[in-house]
Amino acid sequence: MKHLQLSLLCSSWLIPFWMLVHQVLQQPNGCFACVEEERIALLDIKSTFSDPYSIRESWNKSSFDCCSWYGVYCSPTTKHVRHLDLAALTSWEGDSNNILNISMFLPFQELQGLILSDNFFNSCIPSDCFGSLAELDNLQHLDLSHNNFYFINVSIATPKLSKLEYLDLSYNQLNGSIVPYLIGLSSLKALSLHWNNIGRGLPFKVSSATLKLSKLKYLDLSYNQLNESIVPYLVGLSSLKALYLDGNNMGGRLPLKGLCKIKNLEVLSIGHNNLRGDISSCLGYLPSLNYFDISYNQFRMPFPMTIIGNLYKNSMAYNNLSGPTLGMVGQFSTFDEKSYEGNPYLCGPPLVKSCNNISSPQQNQVKDDHRNEETMERLITIAIFALGSL
Ligand SMILES: *[C@@H]1O[C@H](CO)[C@@H](O)[C@H](O)[C@H]1NC(C)=O
Ligand SMILES: *[C@@H]1O[C@H](CO)[C@@H](O)[C@H](O)[C@H]1NC(C)=O
Ligand SMILES: *[C@@H]1O[C@H](CO)[C@@H](O)[C@H](O)[C@H]1NC(C)=O
Ligand SMILES: *[C@@H]1O[C@H](CO)[C@@H](O)[C@H](O)[C@H]1NC(C)=O
Ligand SMILES: *[C@@H]1O[C@H](CO)[C@@H](O)[C@H](O)[C@H]1NC(C)=O
Ligand SMILES: *[C@@H]1O[C@H](CO)[C@@H](O)[C@H](O)[C@H]1NC(C)=O
Ligand SMILES: *[C@@H]1O[C@H](CO)[C@@H](O)[C@H](O)[C@H]1NC(C)=O
Repeated sequence: MKHLQLSLLCSSWLIPFWMLVHQVLQQPNGCFACVEEERIALLDIKSTFSDPYSIRESWNKSSFDCCSWYGVYCSPTTKHVRHLDLAALTSWEGDSNNILNISMFLPFQELQGLILSDNFFNSCIPSDCFGSLAELDNLQHLDLSHNNFYFINVSIATPKLSKLEYLDLSYNQLNGSIVPYLIGLSSLKALSLHWNNIGRGLPFKVSSATLKLSKLKYLDLSYNQLNESIVPYLVGLSSLKALYLDGNNMGGRLPLKGLCKIKNLEVLSIGHNNLRGDISSCLGYLPSLNYFDISYNQFRMPFPMTIIGNLYKNSMAYNNLSGPTLGMVGQFSTFDEKSYEGNPYLCGPPLVKSCNNISSPQQNQVKDDHRNEETMERLITIAIFALGSL
């Protein structure tokens, strides 16, 4: 009887009969392809928030297949919700309540991915955010970016989020007190803490050893207030392939406390800091590096002429490098003018300035030319030396 009812309803959707039979046999919930308990939970979520951009109009009582709703992705076999995009559910004024109620997600027992970005959330119910999320034991991907978390109570429960591979906490107000708790996320492969307050006050309170996230491949700590004392903690991340430390307060000279010894790095981005030193000494240790951004630092050493592994993308912009560029040979032909700009004493292709005229930085690159004779002499020496070695 139930099947007959379903088939009548389904036929109005013009689903071919054989497909219908197939679906009814395969799915516990028939052709609506949506678990009713989850559909109700989704409607509850919608009624709790204002959905200020009206992007969830498909989430309504008269629509039965919740798997077809905006931002809802179901398993093709079980029809349980697997991924849920709940970005921009709330508005700043509209929702007096910007507390993330974790209990709302408990009906979604097969949930693997949860996007909660852009929601002004600042705390959780129950107060132990990650501990409560751990009840979703299939969760692999969690995006809490662009919220207002200044503190996430992770208490004791983190080891339970044992499948979490991707965690995005960027654009919040978190400080360093979050960091020790993240150590328990043993499956983590990608972590972004971009644009938080880590480093203010006591920065990286990792008491005993280094971070032990042995599977972590991608770590974004850019735009925080970290200084170079972070570096020794990073050296222990043995799987790390991409490291972003731009826009912090890192000073000191390369090679920096082992920064250049994270030997599997393919991406190293350390722009917008106050770093100095010898770039070549760093690159020598990083044979797999293919992206290297040192823009907006204090590097002054002439750029190394040695061939550098797999490097194909690079920014050296806005330092104080001098001497010839790497030219346009082989892989270096991918470096455009932009990657060298803001270094008035660099010369050679792709820059307009020829190294034969090394003594005159281009007008548009230097406003005030305060060079003294001594500098001039040094530059000429470097130019001759470098050109000689070509
Ligand atoms: C309900 O959702 C369906 C699509 O799933 C949409 O066509 C319809 O306009 C929605 N109804 C309302 C009242 O928003
Ligand atoms: C949290 O969500 C659950 C499930 O939707 C609900 O029963 C509970 O009342 C909510 N708690 C608060 C404080 O809103
Ligand atoms: C953190 O969570 C634990 C366990 O839920 C709770 O006992 C504790 O009071 C919470 N701490 C804060 C500061 O919210
Ligand atoms: C780095 O930050 C820590 C903690 O704020 C501080 O103790 C240390 O002196 C800083 N190091 C430098 C070189 O500024
Ligand atoms: C981090 O922020 C929390 C909550 O605002 C505060 O209680 C704590 O003292 C801060 N810790 C550090 C190290 O700044
Ligand atoms: C840049 O380097 C030149 C010499 O190479 C030096 O005279 C100048 O003071 C440096 N500028 C800064 C801002 O360090
Ligand atoms: C070298 O610089 C001088 C003065 O800045 C300029 O007049 C001349 O055209 C330049 N020569 C070459 C070959 O770029």
